[in-house]
Amino acid sequence: MEPEQRLSVSVLLLLFAAWGAHGGNILVWYTEGSHWINLKPVLEALIDKGHKVTVLVPSSSLFMNISEPSRFGYEPFNVSVTTEQIERLMEDLFYFSIYEVDHMNYLQIYNRFMELIQVNLDFSLRFLDGLLKSDTVMQRLKEGNYDLLFSDPIFPGSELVADMLGVPLVFTLRFSMANNWERHCGQIPAPPSFVPAAMSKLTDKMDFFERVWNFLFYKMQDAMIANTLWSAVDEYYTKYRGTPTSACELMGRADIWLMRTYWDFDFPRPFLPNFKYVGGIHCRPAKALPKDMEEFAQSSGDDGIVVFTLGSMVKNITREKGNMIASVLAEIPQKVLWRYSGEKPETLGPNTRIFNWIPQNDLLGHPKTRAFITHGGTNGIYEAIYHGVPMLGIPLFGDQPDNLVHMKDKGAAVVAELNFMTPESFRDALNAVINDKSYKESAMQLSSIHKDRPIKALDEAVFWIEYTMRNKGAKHLRVQSHELTWYQYHSLDVMVSLLFIVLFMIFLSIKTCSFCFRRCCGRKRTKKRKAE
Ligand SMILES: *[C@@H]1O[C@H](CO)[C@@H](O)[C@H](O)[C@H]1NC(C)=O
Ligand SMILES: *[C@@H]1O[C@H](CO)[C@@H](O)[C@H](O)[C@H]1NC(C)=O
Ligand SMILES: *[C@@H]1O[C@H](CO)[C@@H](O)[C@H](O)[C@H]1NC(C)=O
Repeated sequence: MEPEQRLSVSVLLLLFAAWGAHGGNILVWYTEGSHWINLKPVLEALIDKGHKVTVLVPSSSLFMNISEPSRFGYEPFNVSVTTEQIERLMEDLFYFSIYEVDHMNYLQIYNRFMELIQVNLDFSLRFLDGLLKSDTVMQRLKEGNYDLLFSDPIFPGSELVADMLGVPLVFTLRFSMANNWERHCGQIPAPPSFVPAAMSKLTDKMDFFERVWNFLFYKMQDAMIANTLWSAVDEYYTKYRGTPTSACELMGRADIWLMRTYWDFDFPRPFLPNFKYVGGIHCRPAKALPKDMEEFAQSSGDDGIVVFTLGSMVKNITREKGNMIASVLAEIPQKVLWRYSGEKPETLGPNTRIFNWIPQNDLLGHPKTRAFITHGGTNGIYEAIYHGVPMLGIPLFGDQPDNLVHMKDKGAAVVAELNFMTPESFRDALNAVINDKSYKESAMQLSSIHKDRPIKALDEAVFWIEYTMRNKGAKHLRVQSHELTWYQYHSLDVMVSLLFIVLFMIFLSIKTCSFCFRRCCGRKRTKKRKAE
């Protein structure tokens, strides 16, 4: 080999070594449903950039199928909860939120809700059992040499595993109940005077009574979460490790929190250097529609189309509601594409077509789309924001009422309640969204805010994950308030000390004055007495 040749070969080898070192090894915590739909684009993008991605999958996953060919590596583990049990819990939750809740008093709501939360928590801990108590799986994780754990913390445990493996942790979430995890574990400031609690259905403009309600809402939910989630998870962790362990404290060690909202959707608020707002990760331009849908859309002429879906979780609504909605939809000049798997309503008009599945993003990005009738899930709302489509919201459960309050406040949506809907109110709402230009204008403005940012949401999420791997963590972005007690955080110790000093000074000056006063006057008085 000539010297130059040898040199170029070693340069090539060096380049290869550097390239190999560049690809990180990422472990992904298990998740389910729309949470998985949100995670997927980030994982795809990470794989495109040469990283290795391994996803933990419980044996009873509803959304992940490890037999299906995929670009992810899978790390399966066995759990004692069956898919049927999970589906049953989901159904109970939907039925409770959609139909029962409006006919219950507060005590009944609280009791039923706590019942469901307990079942959910029990399942979550049994999932964790399947992972932590399997020596095979834990051994494989330890030997996996992971550079980072990426997790949607909806299922507990990732903070414990990250700590045990000694790897950096990146969270991604839309929100937690009353923002409890973000506020207490992540230390993000949330003054109740202008940061509405998640699920409170409040905006950032609150009058006195709304501020009282928001304040109490935070406190009540914090107490509830402390008594259910934290007490159970802390007990579990403590038992598993054999030393007192706080789950919230472990969560607080997360390097980065990727929040799945942005200022097109959320209200402006204070945040921290390790909180990044990446709402709309999955948004992308529309692709061509299937041929039959495209023909149906084109047949609408200038009137355009309306896209209608209540999400992937709710298969059917009651027959009565279905008929009412269908009969109002039959009156409008637009063509309607309705995603619905229930029984076909008898009043379905010739302008409405029912589909088992629709390419939602491609339909929302279609030039003929005039309005989106939605249950208000974050994913659908974000696609509507991206494409600038005004919304008619029919909130069903979870964060959906709250999401739609945001859109209504920003002028891009009208909200109709399923249980209180009349044909007239639904008709008015529908006509307003389609014909009142202000909704379209607001939606277009949100679209422009969404797209006008220094770096695309997906790229930003990928950047911070790579950043955390490159720097072996991002602890330098964590605020010191993690190390403070609550009274130190609010400077109560300082205030009390200062108060004491001030009180002491006042006391001292009063004493001095009265002493001087007595000396002076006392002498005068003695002089007077002497003169007598
Ligand atoms: C999982 O994927 C495999 C291969 O594509 C398929 O044969 C199987 O039916 C799938 N299982 C489920 C539960 O969807
Ligand atoms: C899960 O259970 C199956 C069947 O009992 C077994 O073959 C498999 O090895 C188990 N997987 C793990 C990761 O323990
Ligand atoms: C939805 O469909 C299922 C199965 O067909 C049925 O058992 C259930 O009662 C329906 N729900 C409503 C609200 O109609």
